[in-house]
Amino acid sequence: MCGIVGFSSRTKPACAPLVNGLRRLEYRGYDSAGVALESKEGIKVFKKTGKVAELDRLLKESLSDAEQEGFTIGIAHTRWATHGLPTVENAHPHVADGGGLALVHNGIVENYAALRAQLEKKGCKFVSQTDTEVLAHLVAVFDKGDFLSAVSQALKKVEGTYGIATISKRHPGEMIVARKGSPLVIGVSDGATVVASDVSAIVAHTRQVIYLKDGDVARVTPEGVDIYTLDNVPVSRDVQAVEWDAESVEKGGYEHFMLKEIFEQPESLRNTIRGRLDTVNGTAILAGLGLPPRDLASIRRAVIIGCGTSLHAGMAGKYLFEALADLPTSPEQAAEFRYCNPIIGPSDWAIAVSQSGETADTLAAVRESIGKGALVSAICNVVGSTIAREAGRGVYLHAGPEISVASTKAFTSQVTVLAMMALKLGRTRRLSREEGLGLCNEISSLPDLVSEVLKENDAIAAIAAKYAKVDDMFFLGRGILYPAALEGALKMKEISYVHAEGYQAAELKHGPIALLGAKTPVVALLCDIPGKEKTVGNVQECRARKAPVIGIVTRGDEEAAAHCNDAIFLPRTSPFTAPVVSVVAMQLFAYHVARIRGCEIDQPRNLAKSVTVE
Ligand code: F6R
Repeated sequence: MCGIVGFSSRTKPACAPLVNGLRRLEYRGYDSAGVALESKEGIKVFKKTGKVAELDRLLKESLSDAEQEGFTIGIAHTRWATHGLPTVENAHPHVADGGGLALVHNGIVENYAALRAQLEKKGCKFVSQTDTEVLAHLVAVFDKGDFLSAVSQALKKVEGTYGIATISKRHPGEMIVARKGSPLVIGVSDGATVVASDVSAIVAHTRQVIYLKDGDVARVTPEGVDIYTLDNVPVSRDVQAVEWDAESVEKGGYEHFMLKEIFEQPESLRNTIRGRLDTVNGTAILAGLGLPPRDLASIRRAVIIGCGTSLHAGMAGKYLFEALADLPTSPEQAAEFRYCNPIIGPSDWAIAVSQSGETADTLAAVRESIGKGALVSAICNVVGSTIAREAGRGVYLHAGPEISVASTKAFTSQVTVLAMMALKLGRTRRLSREEGLGLCNEISSLPDLVSEVLKENDAIAAIAAKYAKVDDMFFLGRGILYPAALEGALKMKEISYVHAEGYQAAELKHGPIALLGAKTPVVALLCDIPGKEKTVGNVQECRARKAPVIGIVTRGDEEAAAHCNDAIFLPRTSPFTAPVVSVVAMQLFAYHVARIRGCEIDQPRNLAKSVTVE
């Protein structure tokens, strides 16, 4: 996601460490970058869309070497768009107080619209579409001479998450930083204090760091740091030694980006869900859909279009839309969509699902659907991507950048968004408020359920070690777990190169069962939801052909586990949360098989993160 760097020294130039710090954060993914530098005359801000190299070029064009070396205090940011497109106006730092205050922010200000309206009444002028600009103005409004207390007062008004750094012409030599739900680290070195959202931007200066805790606000000066609570009570935080090398720091200590992204899922799901569940009316708030209840109620049919993992999410969406909203729904493989004369028109809802928002086949299907007059929405992760722009309305995942080629956290967020869409749609059609509230509860439990699955990592690795050397595998699921089985098989084949097939559990005996034997393990999705007993029957058919079965089973369901050679235990789920929860176990299973086989996990052969050719 976004990255923050701050540098404060009496004598050392700030420009190069700020830009180099941003470079260390590039791996996180971003779409614009900016710097604010403090001088006697005021604050100078430089921003650019695109790469940090572009920002560096802009700085070099705008300032001579001597001028650059004159700045010793500054803050910098890489932005990954959430509120508003990736433009220079929306890039950080954001300014207030007539350009005298600059602020960078990671996180989401949930109540920004209300705060913005209040600030506009007070005469504040906004130039961006971001939630962050609200913070800059709030701090300026509260600044009556004590910078730290102005920041604390502003932050008390904020609902949401933040990691921030801010500097002000009125308070030379002072930088205020704070965190809640978004990391911030301070490195204390000889002659400079360095701040960053991630230690990877600090280790070039020092390995002695302080990790701020949620609710901390700190005054950073060239000499060091003083930390307080938001109520101005001083607190002390330990200085810790960083032991990782720079590369492992980028991966947050994980061996691969894929594993990091699998483990990020409780957080990415929280970000996907945040502010979108109406727990009073039992529905979902998806303003970006731009479809009034009247339109939602009159839709005749939905088609959910995507490729690969996104198609699997769309297949789960079919079950959700039909079960919760009685809306006939067909998942469509995007590449085939326009070759079969799609019967789609004004009362149909085409929903394009794409992590990157750039997949050529999905984009072509969006254009085809628009051309035929359908209502078109997109579910994308990358803000401002082509599919998001051309669809014109939709829901962003807010899952953060996905770097590993194999998609993980995008899938779980896509299914969660589809569940929220089904909830909203269902409430306009047939779901009662009570049923809606029940679904709100289920959806909000997802981050914790996924955390439970992640605790099984070692157990899953041990099972993976037993099966890592096979050439073929099958994945079986029924109902809403069928798309999950397809996704489990896709993960396995793309990163471990084991030939893996996903099947609807009952379909196996219509042919593929001929391939089963002692060397073809079967992963069976046996979560305790309706249909499980029938899948247990299919497992017995596999065992009768000597195929070893790895069951994905609800904790405590010893009866189902007894039918399997090995069992991965999951927390109890409802039918609507089961695909998200079970897929996480299969992501870990595929990861460990690939690791044991020595595969290039983050960049599997022949695969690209974004497929922009048809
Ligand atoms: C699988 C994977 C691909 C993508 C597919 C669509 O791990 O990454 O199957 O899901 O190429 O990509 P997006 O979602 O960007 O449209």
